[in-house]
Amino acid sequence: MSAFEQSRVRSGDAGLTNTAAEKLRSMIPAAGALAYPFLLDAFHRAVSPATGAMSFGRLVLAALCLLAATAAPLLGLACAYWMTKAAASSFELRAWRLAYLSIAAPPLFVLTGVGLGLLHIPVSDELVWVAGWLAACLYVLFSTKQSERAPSSAAADPSITKWRVTHGVAAAVILIYVAFHLTNHLLGWLGPEVHAAVMKMGRTVYRSSLIEPLFVGLMLLQVAVGVRLAWRWSAAPADAYRVFQIGSGVYLAAFIVTHLNSALVSARAVHHIDTNWAWASGAPVGLIHDAWSIRLVPHYALGVFFVLAHLASGLRGVLIAHGVATAIVNRVWATGLAAGGLVAVAIMSGLCGARI
Ligand code: HEM
Repeated sequence: MSAFEQSRVRSGDAGLTNTAAEKLRSMIPAAGALAYPFLLDAFHRAVSPATGAMSFGRLVLAALCLLAATAAPLLGLACAYWMTKAAASSFELRAWRLAYLSIAAPPLFVLTGVGLGLLHIPVSDELVWVAGWLAACLYVLFSTKQSERAPSSAAADPSITKWRVTHGVAAAVILIYVAFHLTNHLLGWLGPEVHAAVMKMGRTVYRSSLIEPLFVGLMLLQVAVGVRLAWRWSAAPADAYRVFQIGSGVYLAAFIVTHLNSALVSARAVHHIDTNWAWASGAPVGLIHDAWSIRLVPHYALGVFFVLAHLASGLRGVLIAHGVATAIVNRVWATGLAAGGLVAVAIMSGLCGARI
């Protein structure tokens, strides 16, 4: 009998309270997601000249608010890992998935803002955000629906193998675009002219009338297959590497849909804005000082980090399957994550004004 079942038996001795305590504790990731927009508001207030002269104290407060907002998805990741060790009731399975969903708070908040604008719904995005997460919590807490658990090994579920292969092959193609795209943004350090010149070259390929629909279709297929895999794996106990792979995948699924909607639908199709450096960096006010655009900082930063880290997790799976020693494989994985973090910081510094 697992530790959790023993504790439940114990909590059974202690009546409902404990069970209620367990349930409430499982809402921590959702509480982090709920707080996300308000951490960004606090950052904006701390850096805004309208609320007085900048001081060292306000600078520290601003940095802490932005760090806390960027860390909120990592809280979801840690909770998803903490939750997966225990034997799972239907409630716990729903709570796991809510923890995974909370990892995608940054892109989901961008999508909420852009979506309300595109649909001309004059309601505060923060109000919609709070209502949405409260509804999700109530569903998880009070639903009586029995949720299906899954075996922990893929071998026990052959249907998963073909999805994993499809996902891997599509990833290899997408990697070519992502490598170009992120290099293009790194060149923002040399100024918008250099960024525009390189983007212009890239557009001759990825914006061609043959390639763009195919590529966008491939991105959406990758998201659909990824969500299918994440749904499957999120119903089985997992180690830290698997939880990270699922969590980074959930983030990317939300990021890609949100990013494509912002670039292709909202900017290009509806508002006829050229999606160039000025668009990406929130010019003229910039990402740091604009009350709306500040949400793009964690969104983009974690987008870059998780795309490279998710690829490193995929590579780890391939190396293990080819019998490479675990110690080497884990070192390669950790290096991939560190590199992802460095590239994210470098791109974000350029987007926020740093120049060579
Ligand atoms: C700092 C992070 C990022 C920034 C600032 C950014 C910015 C942009 C910009 C400016 C465009 C328009 C390109 C054009 O008009 O030619 C774009 C398009 C796109 N981005 Fe990103 N991007 C970022 C990260 C990513 C990541 C991580 C992915 C993949 C997971 C991605 C996938 C795409 C795709 C698929 C398109 C559409 C390409 C097209 O058909 O025009 N982006 N992005």
